[in-house]
Amino acid sequence: MTKYISVLQLKGGVGKTTIAANLAGYFLSKSKKVLAVDADMKQGTLSAWSSMVEDKNFQSGSTFSLSELINLLKESDEKFDIVIVDLPPRLEDLARSSLLFSDLVLLPVTTSAPDFWAASDISELIEAAKSEKPDIKLRLVWNKFKPTKRRLELKDQVNKELGHDEIKQPLSDYIAYSDVMGMGTWVGAYNHPKAKSEFLEFSKEIEKLIK
Ligand SMILES: Nc1ncnc2c1ncn2[C@@H]1O[C@H](COP(=O)(O)OP(=O)(O)OP(=O)(O)O)[C@@H](O)[C@H]1O
Ligand SMILES: [Mg+2]
Repeated sequence: MTKYISVLQLKGGVGKTTIAANLAGYFLSKSKKVLAVDADMKQGTLSAWSSMVEDKNFQSGSTFSLSELINLLKESDEKFDIVIVDLPPRLEDLARSSLLFSDLVLLPVTTSAPDFWAASDISELIEAAKSEKPDIKLRLVWNKFKPTKRRLELKDQVNKELGHDEIKQPLSDYIAYSDVMGMGTWVGAYNHPKAKSEFLEFSKEIEKLIK
């Protein structure tokens, strides 16, 4: 059965595309058939990464309109193990529709107030989608995270206030995440043991959630 993961956040630059690309890399390393969909073609960052990926199990798609996205998602059903959709940092019909296809929605946040405000705006959207598709799972992803006392407190506070579950393994601020984006690879195949190890833990949690 094809599993759909959307990466969504209204705030720009929180790591949506980075997380989408690295997750695609992880699932390819497990010999899964992966489709990476760039639904943010104003930037086309995921497409640029995808064009460098060499793996027979990998395909990429880009969508400029809602109808293209819906067609692509419908057509991908049963053809792939995993479909990952990188959404634009705007609340559009594109985002709403992608949610309705999603088994799992990842909502990246860093420990900065604007991210939380943007995340709380998304909650309404998710609730609306849940009324149509009750089994959608939403998880906060802590990205560029530094485990200082202050940040850990803030993280707990935000988890409580937003009331969403989190992926337990945060992702640190490592240059490796930027480097691999320019190389068409992922941190698991890159010489940065700490990034690799945390991303493997992170990905295993994701894998469990979509089983
Ligand atoms: N964990 C990380 N460690 C270091 N750098 C990171 C990390 N995550 C993302 N970045 C860097 O932060 C910048 C923004 O990341 P990215 O493009 O993935 O965000 P985005 O949410 O997709 O942005 P946009 O909303 O513009 O599409 C990039 O330069 C990326 O390389
Ligand atoms: Mg992006």
